Amino acid sequence: MSPAIWSKIEQLSWPADWPALFGRDAPLLMEIGFGSGQYLIELAGRRPEANVIGVEISVPALRRAGRKLERRGLNHVCLIQGDANAVLRALCAPGSLAAVVINFPDPWPKLDHDARRLIDNDFLCLLATRMAAGAPLDIATDHDDYAAQIAAALARSPTFESRSGATFALEEPGRAPTKYERVALAEGRTPRYFAWRRNDAPATTPFPIPEEYAMPHVVLRGPADLTEIGRRFRPSVILFDGGRVRFIEAYRALGGDKLLIETYINEDPIRQRLGLEVRARANGEIVIGLAEVGFPRPTRGVHAAIAALANWLRAEFPALIVVHSALQEEYAHAQDERY
Ligand SMILES: C[S@@+](CC[C@H](N)C(=O)[O-])C[C@H]1O[C@@H](n2cnc3c(N)ncnc32)[C@H](O)[C@@H]1O
Repeated sequence: MSPAIWSKIEQLSWPADWPALFGRDAPLLMEIGFGSGQYLIELAGRRPEANVIGVEISVPALRRAGRKLERRGLNHVCLIQGDANAVLRALCAPGSLAAVVINFPDPWPKLDHDARRLIDNDFLCLLATRMAAGAPLDIATDHDDYAAQIAAALARSPTFESRSGATFALEEPGRAPTKYERVALAEGRTPRYFAWRRNDAPATTPFPIPEEYAMPHVVLRGPADLTEIGRRFRPSVILFDGGRVRFIEAYRALGGDKLLIETYINEDPIRQRLGLEVRARANGEIVIGLAEVGFPRPTRGVHAAIAALANWLRAEFPALIVVHSALQEEYAHAQDERY
């Protein structure tokens, strides 16, 4: 894959087929939050034998780094757009990462914002499931409070150990400084460099790869037309075991036989904004399914959303009956009542 073409989590298989994406099987190195990409480029240049994954939330950062990598002909780098938690959970098989680097993660310096920091006990537990025994974990930060938090989390973790015996060092000789590192040094702050490794203790929590199910749909029959359904639609939120669905807006197709329900599904850490489709068949039936817009993944939350939409329709139009339902067991049951 060209490094200038980055992928979103939902475009790839879960876990990702890295050998197919890179065109070869090789040790997987990951940099999380590469920002302007200097370190990623240096890492890729230094490790031509490895497959290098760069993870970033910021799309402009991905575009810029992709162009730089392409100009340098570094084709063994794969860029992924997304939150590191979701990338690790969905794309990385257990024990698959041979090294992880996190340079100057966002410090969230405001007092009540520290919960937003990437590196905490839970994150290290997740990381421990995805890293191979012996794989190095390198973290750098110039933020005093975050450094203390990282030190405490690493010290508590039964699955990581220091490579040097020290918690951190104040310099890393030969290191290519990142953009944030240069700013920190210029402004007189002292970066802390944590050189740790995954030990061979078993991970404490499994963090399974998110499951995908068959494409869900529900077929209803009865007196309800799309105009009336669209008129009655109101934004709403439903909770299901494992997350939250928000029905945002309903759109009518110009052709007339479809409603698109814009829907946000949060199954932390996987989040999808997708379309559910309510389609009128010529025989009078109404089909609720997943619209082929973007790269929707038929997760448990999607099944919950379609079940909730079907239930809402049956509550609004009590004469509707369920003709057919292809939903996960737990949601199919709710549909059965009216057969
Ligand atoms: C403070 S900057 C550091 C950038 C670069 N590593 C450096 O040292 O110059 C933090 C970077 O992490 C990215 N980021 C923040 N949270 C992230 C997350 N949960 N997953 C992936 N990237 C993230 C941000 O978009 C930003 O580019």
